[in-house]
Amino acid sequence: MNSILFVCLGNICRSPIAEGVARKRLEELNHDIIVDSAGTGSWHVGEAPCKHSVKVAQNHAVDISNLRARQVKKADFSAFDLIVALDQSNYRDLKALGCQNLVKLGDYGFEGADVPDPFFFDGFEGFEHVYAMIESCVDRLLSSVCGDTISSS
Ligand code: 4NP
Repeated sequence: MNSILFVCLGNICRSPIAEGVARKRLEELNHDIIVDSAGTGSWHVGEAPCKHSVKVAQNHAVDISNLRARQVKKADFSAFDLIVALDQSNYRDLKALGCQNLVKLGDYGFEGADVPDPFFFDGFEGFEHVYAMIESCVDRLLSSVCGDTISSS
């Protein structure tokens, strides 16, 4: 496993958190797996992560402020070893684009639940829950692909 791409809808709320958490964990473990994130949609291309995602990540000592949104492209499916969808709708969209090396982040915890779309949240509320879900699943995903035990505690 050399590379992982996290994909949500806008690439401004959920997948940048997943990218930031994974980068930090891999750095701590001295693993040189490449991590990136993208969105299935193009609305926010070039934008920084939403302020609530930046804040919640910062609350956990993860800096995602320098990430910029991009749209997923078919070339990503061969460039990355593993594509990780943040919810079932992202999974379906990626499958429809021909992605084969695809899993859902919920396969690694929360009984397969989707990471909720924060676009419909009222302000910051809900972002800590989203962060906790992502962190826990990313830890288990990395443990599974790296063969190490990774824990947020
Ligand atoms: P994300 O959240 O997929 O977690 O980045 C969203 C951001 C923007 C939109 C939808 C979801 N949007 O429709 O613009």
